[in-house]
Order: sequence, then C-alpha cells, then structure tokens
Amino acid sequence: MKTGIKNKNIILGVCGGIAAYKSVELLRLLKKEGADVRVIMTKNAREFVGAMTFEALSGHRVCTDLFADSDDASIKHIEWASVADAVVIAPATANIIGKCANGIADDALSTFMLAVTSPVLLCPSMNTNMYLSRPVQKNLEMLASYGYVITEPGAGELACGTTGPGRLPEPPEILDRLICCLTPKDLKGKKVLVTAGPTREAIDPVRFISNPSSGKMGYAVARAAEHRGAGVVLIAGPVNLTDPINVTVLKVSSAQEMAAAVFNYMEQSDIIVKTAAVSDFRPKEAAKQKIKKGEKDEATLFLVKNQDILKELGRRKKDGQILVGFAAETEELERNAGKKLEEKNLDMIAGNLVNHPGSGFATDTNQVTLFYRNGTKEPLSAMGKDEVAHILLDRVLSVISSKPSVISSEASRIL
Ligand code: CTP
Repeated sequence: MKTGIKNKNIILGVCGGIAAYKSVELLRLLKKEGADVRVIMTKNAREFVGAMTFEALSGHRVCTDLFADSDDASIKHIEWASVADAVVIAPATANIIGKCANGIADDALSTFMLAVTSPVLLCPSMNTNMYLSRPVQKNLEMLASYGYVITEPGAGELACGTTGPGRLPEPPEILDRLICCLTPKDLKGKKVLVTAGPTREAIDPVRFISNPSSGKMGYAVARAAEHRGAGVVLIAGPVNLTDPINVTVLKVSSAQEMAAAVFNYMEQSDIIVKTAAVSDFRPKEAAKQKIKKGEKDEATLFLVKNQDILKELGRRKKDGQILVGFAAETEELERNAGKKLEEKNLDMIAGNLVNHPGSGFATDTNQVTLFYRNGTKEPLSAMGKDEVAHILLDRVLSVISSKPSVISSEASRIL
C-alpha cells in the first residue's frame, strides 16, 4: 500500500489562537514529508503569525481574503478544494468549528470548507471553558457525524492561565493523525498484537543482560496497523520511543514478563507480529544485592534458557491466526530464517542481516527478505521501517485472503 503524505496536496487552515505558532512547525514537518501544502489563514490568525512565514515555508501564496485582487483568491476556495487530498485545521478555534458545523461561509477558510470533499482533520485549541462549553461540544459532535476527524486537545496549564483540556497537540502528533486520515482502513475489525524492543534479564539490581534492539521496527508495525484501522496491542521491552497513538501499550522488562503478556493477548489476536529481540537466556537467579567484584579475576554466570515465546505461539496457533516472526542473523539468512519459519510454525518471517549497513539494530531503515510458508522468498530493498511495516501488513492481508478466519466475535470484543 502506498502510504504517507509524500506528493499529497494538503490544505493547512490556520485560525487565530495562541497555538498558531505551532502551525508553522506543522507546515515544516509536512514539507519535510514531501507534501505540497497550501495555507489558508483567517484574519485573526494574522494577528498571531505573519503570512510571510507560511509563504516562505510552503512556497505558495497564503490565502486569507476571498476578494483580494492581488492573488486571485476569489476562486481559490473552489480550485484548492478540488485538488486537496486532505485538510488540516490547526489550531481550530470555536469560531471556525461553529461555522463549519453550521454551514456558515463568511471568509476564505469557512467558504473553502464548504467546497472541500477530502478528509478533514480538525485540531481544536482554545480556553478550557470555551472548549467544554455546550455549543462547542455540540458543534464538534456534529462535525464528527459529518466525518471530520477531531483530535483530543491536550490537558494542562494553558496560555490563558486556566488548567484543563484545550492545548493543541504537538505537531508530530497532528502529522501522525493526518497520515492516519489518508490511510485506507483495510485492517478494520482485525486485532493485531505486536512485540517490540529488547528484554532485560536481571543479574543483580543494577545489571542485566540485554541487546541493542531499539524497538523501532515493532513500533512502526504497530503504528502502521493502527493507521490501517486495526485494534493494536503493543508489548514492548525497555525502549526509548514515543507510544503510538490509539494503541494499547504494555511495557515489560524480562522475557518471562513478555511471555506472560503475549499469552494473555494471543487468543484474541488475528495477527501477531513478533519483532522483539528476546533474550534466549537469563541468569538462573538474580542476586538480591549488587554483586561485588571481589578479589577474583574471573566470574561465572549461570544461565538458563528462556521460553521461546514465538515457538509456543506457533504451537498454540489457531486456524485463521497469522503469525509473523523476525529473524536477526549475522550469516546464512535464508537457511536460518527458513528453519525458524518451519520450527515455529509461522506464516511468514522477515529476515535481516544485522551486521549490514542500514539494516541492523537501532537504525531507521531496514533491508529484509520475507520468507513464506510455500517456500518462496521476497527480498525487499533497503527502506524506512514504516515502509517495511506496511509491506509486511500488505503481505499478511494476502495470506489472510487465502485463509478462512476463525477468530470468534467473543474474542474480538475483548481488545
Ligand atoms: N523469539 C521469541 N522468544 C525467544 C526467542 C526468540 O519469541 N525466546 C522470537 C523473536 O521475537 C523473533 C523470532 O523468535 O520473532 C526469532 O528470534 P531470533 O532471536 O532471531 O532467533 P532465535 O529463535 O532466538 O534463535 P537464535 O538465537 O538461535 O538465532
């Protein structure tokens, strides 16, 4: 599936609120992602940020006034509406919310909003009491029923001094929701379970055995699945990543904790993707107190094997469940990945050579080869982990379409 906002025509509506400064950062992010962005500002927005800033960053004239001779704005609301792939209004004030909900068209942005047919992401930001007021809440309900996607404002101390909901979400979050708006929901109704990151096996209270897995691949799969409409549970070892929006995230530390969490959710999951780099061994006993180095020049750690979570999932797998593993190898990728596919009863395994540039732990890109149950393989070129995640989910859907689903409605209600 082609995803993201590269080469998409995005209209950014900016209203007059203190958070208008964040729209500049949002525009910068959108441009960085390769979108073509046109900005429509309300007159009040110009009191907060100058149009020049948006013009310089977008590379297009900003539209504010329908009747400005200089920039032919009188037809822009129709012309721009017809080419828009998506619209984002950030910040959206009580005023524009009221106008959009009630069909009022008395300036460039509100007139444009009546003409547009593409997905709309509305990001309310205002004083808490205004946001919670009945007219605003009623208008937001109405807009949601029209199909607008509306972000929850953040809570906290606002610029006006009140405390409560009203803050504009941070630009990366708005970008993520916009990408979500543009992503077809081909996993709607599916429950996806993803594991990510390393595990930590305690040696004593201050030391552990682990590996350099960053969790980025698993987080990318969770994000992609959520964007495609799935209900997602992400079980993550210790990682330093922002939780994906709208995903149930469970943080674990050891392989045993990860196993318990995974088995808890496996029954109700249609698709399980195990990207986690699980430690194969753990110290037989973690010392209660910090181990002192003492006088000896050598020390011995007694290790015991951790359960192979994926192998156990493969053993318990029901018809219709899809199980995807990852194989991090340093040599003989095909042989090792193929063996894991077979032994763990997987539908698919993504293998990569971790000692190759652009394909290892903690990188933003990955170069994987997908191995399938029928003995075929699909080498992918090096690409961003988000892209790998979407291709992987595309292939999962292909596998599903050739298998009947038997997940019960009882199970799917639990997630
Ligand atoms: N895995 C797991 N539980 C383990 C070890 C691995 O669930 N105790 C899963 C990983 O999440 C991954 C797959 O098995 O999806 C392969 O993991 P990998 O570390 O590449 O291989 P191992 O099976 O551990 O085998 P080896 O270390 O011998 O390569």
